[in-house]
Amino acid sequence: MPPLPVAELHVHVEGTLEAELLVALARRNDVALPTYDPVALTERYRHFTSLQSFLDVYYANLAVLRSATDFYDLMAAYLRRAAAAGVRRAEVFFDPQTHLNNGVGFETLVEGFSSAVADAPISADLILCFLRDLGPDAAEQTLRAGLEFREHFIGVGLDSAELGHPPRLFKRVYEIAAAEGLRKVAHAGEEAGPEYVWEALDILGVERIDHGVRSLADPRLVARLRADRVPLTVCPLSNVCLKGVGSLAEHPLKTMLDAGLVVTVNSDDPAYFGGHVDDNFAAVRAALGLSAEDVRQLALNSFEASFAPREDKERWQAEVLSAQIG
Ligand code: HPA
Ligand code: ZN
Repeated sequence: MPPLPVAELHVHVEGTLEAELLVALARRNDVALPTYDPVALTERYRHFTSLQSFLDVYYANLAVLRSATDFYDLMAAYLRRAAAAGVRRAEVFFDPQTHLNNGVGFETLVEGFSSAVADAPISADLILCFLRDLGPDAAEQTLRAGLEFREHFIGVGLDSAELGHPPRLFKRVYEIAAAEGLRKVAHAGEEAGPEYVWEALDILGVERIDHGVRSLADPRLVARLRADRVPLTVCPLSNVCLKGVGSLAEHPLKTMLDAGLVVTVNSDDPAYFGGHVDDNFAAVRAALGLSAEDVRQLALNSFEASFAPREDKERWQAEVLSAQIG
């Protein structure tokens, strides 16, 4: 049976760097790694205690990306794998600050990522993310530098260490982005509580919440998200790996779906968390006992939540409605 058509709306291209490519790029660019054995490297990827413990490994590994070809290869590998997973549309996060801080030019990373998107077997666009722990001034500087490449990305997001870096600090940079016609999303409610989700909605004016799993603690927030049909891009395997939820069986995805929220399933950082979007679907189906109609709803939600042109979204949703779900 072909995979279910979906949109993937929460994936960090840097988090798709598989151990094999990491080793190949380290050799290509003469960058030292703790080990050149992909199996041993993958083993190191699997033991996280929190978001920060993951981010430390994730940022360190990115030192292997140097040339436009490296960035192209990373993005192209993700898009090929996503196509095989049934992804029709990918809205892919990238973190320019990490690469700029590694001495890579903005034009180098944009050239690599953008060329791979142009050559992609599926519909894809880029979303520029700010590293919230580097603060609002750095975010604004990054956006201004990025605007030289305005046509290469469709929106802005906010990621990295959440606690202590609330959305309200980024009000100004989101206003600048909005004035440029950029779409707005933000990570909120992954480790921090509902107040971060409220700020993302009311102060930043975001159109989607990335993660948002902790929204359920606030019934008024749930009512707001439902009434406004604000999509939540949930990443089940990520939440388990980073200890946001105790196990997949305890994941709130089904509760969120039953509460009428526009939830979607995504991979976040598939090289680190044990699977791509198809693997995330399979895992939650098994652990939460989702029905075929739940799964269909999640796929329909993903296209509703996407920033693709309406005619494309409707075509993909028609495909979902006629798909066999095994
Ligand atoms: N949360 C915050 N920042 C990130 C993540 C995440 O899950 N993945 C990559 N950067
Ligand atoms: Zn994320």
